[in-house]
Amino acid sequence: MSDRDAGGSADEPADRDAADNLPVRRVSDWDADRLAELAAEHDTPLYVQDLDRVRENCERLRDAFPDADVRYAVKAHTGRAVLEAVREAGLDAECASAGEVDRALAAGFDGSRLHYTAVNPPARDLDYVVGVAEAEPDLTITVGAVDTLDRLAERGYDGRVCVRVNPGVGAGHHEKVRTGGAAKFGIPYDRAARAAQEAAERFDVVGIHAHAGSGIDSDQLDSHRELVARIGELARELAEPSNNGMSPVDLEYVDVGGGFGVPYEEDAPALDLPAVAEATREAISPLPAGVDLAIEPGRYVVADAGVLLTRVNTVKPTPDETVVGVDAGMTDLLRPAMYDAYHPIRNLGGGQARDGSDAPAPDDRSATPVTVAGPICETGDTLCRDRALADPARGDLLAVGIAGAYGYEMANQYNSRPRPAEVALDDRTAAVVRRRETLGDLTTVEREANPDRTGRTDRTEAGR
Ligand code: LLP
Repeated sequence: MSDRDAGGSADEPADRDAADNLPVRRVSDWDADRLAELAAEHDTPLYVQDLDRVRENCERLRDAFPDADVRYAVKAHTGRAVLEAVREAGLDAECASAGEVDRALAAGFDGSRLHYTAVNPPARDLDYVVGVAEAEPDLTITVGAVDTLDRLAERGYDGRVCVRVNPGVGAGHHEKVRTGGAAKFGIPYDRAARAAQEAAERFDVVGIHAHAGSGIDSDQLDSHRELVARIGELARELAEPSNNGMSPVDLEYVDVGGGFGVPYEEDAPALDLPAVAEATREAISPLPAGVDLAIEPGRYVVADAGVLLTRVNTVKPTPDETVVGVDAGMTDLLRPAMYDAYHPIRNLGGGQARDGSDAPAPDDRSATPVTVAGPICETGDTLCRDRALADPARGDLLAVGIAGAYGYEMANQYNSRPRPAEVALDDRTAAVVRRRETLGDLTTVEREANPDRTGRTDRTEAGR
């Protein structure tokens, strides 16, 4: 991948509405003054999630797939405000754990709009979800192994089931997120029809499902098409089983998963969503009568609705490179360390030159190749390497773009670093939706387990 964005663009829409409904909201489209105000008020590192953009993305998906059931893959961003916005926009919720089901219920999704995808589900998760299904019998459980079906039956569950198939074809931005060909996920394609037919003897089998992977761009559409075609074929086979002696399975839907990519590089083209939708419809047709198409995008709904703000605390020239130290690292945004993921970075300025004077506005600085590194004691803790940014100065604010999906969700407390705060923008008003963690939060579970050894010092609450 090339490091192309110089940051510090002055091309801000005078009227923010002019930026609405863009195919992608770039880091250069955000209002720099607004972001600087938020950082001043709430400190950094700070996630900012714009609910208006989340709503626009939901709308764009519904427009492109007007006949499909659109289910938001909650794992991309589980914040309550986001879940409520998505529910109000009419999307269902696809949940990967008991915790996500719990959050979706709390955000007002009822059973008919809840889809729990069980991947080697811990017993605790199954107990919880089967309990929820007693009160919410319209909930659907997506199952990727016959063992999971048996474990549901052992718990007395005989409700709605969707069979997850391993389509044998995967796609995605990194090998670690290519699901479709990974044996971990789904029942192998050639056994799936029989598994679904047998499952129908014990459960109400309402759907079949396959997911290729995450971050599929236009170049990988062939894999998407292949997956969709295979699953369409399976739906037809289930509707009219050839002579294997089994009864037809009366499906409500065929779920072809999520994975719709978002361009991270500033000049990368946006996915042509209507074209993807058209290709999907073409590849899946003809679906048996009464069987609907379903999709479950996560990233596409929230990625470009979020930025991560971080402050420069160190500028260190070395013989090899200039290292720009910032207060956000791999604990706040894991994607660059985990997947070598590219996130655009824009210098919003505000820092001081060495002599203490105000550094010039970013547009008036030269572009300098830098490595932006966080505070974690690992070499991999960088947000970018050798990237041209408007020459950073200590105190500058950097906006890390396209951070709304799998950003806060993958944040963790490694190196005993409290997780950042998050602010949601809604119709231009800002509200803290996740407060910044404190040093005290880091030891809460230890202290509760062991009240005599408090693990706190008098200074704990003073430190941040
Ligand atoms: N459905 C299923 C069954 C999934 O496993 C996933 C994502 C989705 C839908 C949504 O995929 P999306 O539309 O968001 O691409 N942490 C990685 C992404 C992992 C995705 C896992 N499954 C990242 O930061 O790139």
